[in-house]
Amino acid sequence: MSDIVQVAEMLRGAGRVVALTGAGMSAEAGVPTFRDGGGVWKNFRPEELASPEGFARDPLRVWAWYRERRAGLARIEPHEGHRVLARWEARFESMAVVTQNVDGLHHRAGSQRVFELHGRLDETRCVACECRIVGLDDLGPDPRCACGARMRPGVVWFGELLPVDTLEAGMELARQADVCLVIGTSGVVYPAASVAEVAKQGGAAFVEINPQPGALASIADVCLRGGAVEMLTKLDDAVGR
Ligand code: APR
Repeated sequence: MSDIVQVAEMLRGAGRVVALTGAGMSAEAGVPTFRDGGGVWKNFRPEELASPEGFARDPLRVWAWYRERRAGLARIEPHEGHRVLARWEARFESMAVVTQNVDGLHHRAGSQRVFELHGRLDETRCVACECRIVGLDDLGPDPRCACGARMRPGVVWFGELLPVDTLEAGMELARQADVCLVIGTSGVVYPAASVAEVAKQGGAAFVEINPQPGALASIADVCLRGGAVEMLTKLDDAVGR
């Protein structure tokens, strides 16, 4: 039995499915990954660009990087793999995406049950008050709030707490899952990666979809060695509508 057929069997028998996605899920839509190939962290240190300390040290440099990423998002679209996961919300009793990605592509593909652990690039917030700006408009090189304070990206930086309710909801979905698909993540960043571990401990069948083994491959029941688009479209065909 091919791995695709085996995973399709798992999905056909499943009521509750959770997908934990990482940067590799968006790679084929044109969003750079962080740690593989020419990933972002090959050229920059995360602490410099994705931490409160980095922002305090050089806010203009950090904002310039996010401004460039936001501009890039305005030029890309979700791919068929995103759309398969969105369609599966009607196919399974419970289908949810817990994502580390901040690109909003799952929402744009039509997924309603999306738990964004690391925030959103299309949110910008004041460092001092509750003011938030939603959207990908160019806010210029040094956006300021009406209160005069600087604005920062609405994402979770290294060393910052994840949104507690979102993380808890993702963990609960993982605990209850029959199948957990771990798609396009190196699985090295916590607590996001523990969503997959909690699913495994809860008895879910654990499937990794990744051209390369991630850190969680050792606890996977099946590893589909390929890209998100190819593997999700093949699974969608095999599972049937
Ligand atoms: N399809 C599926 N997986 C892919 C594809 C693809 N087309 N292309 C690459 N990958 C895999 C890589 O093999 C790698 O394992 O995607 C993974 C990307 O790993 P990372 O770049 O480490 O991204 P991610 O796991 O999401 O990083 C987690 O780290 O920098 C922080 O906050 C950031 O959310 C991010 C977190």
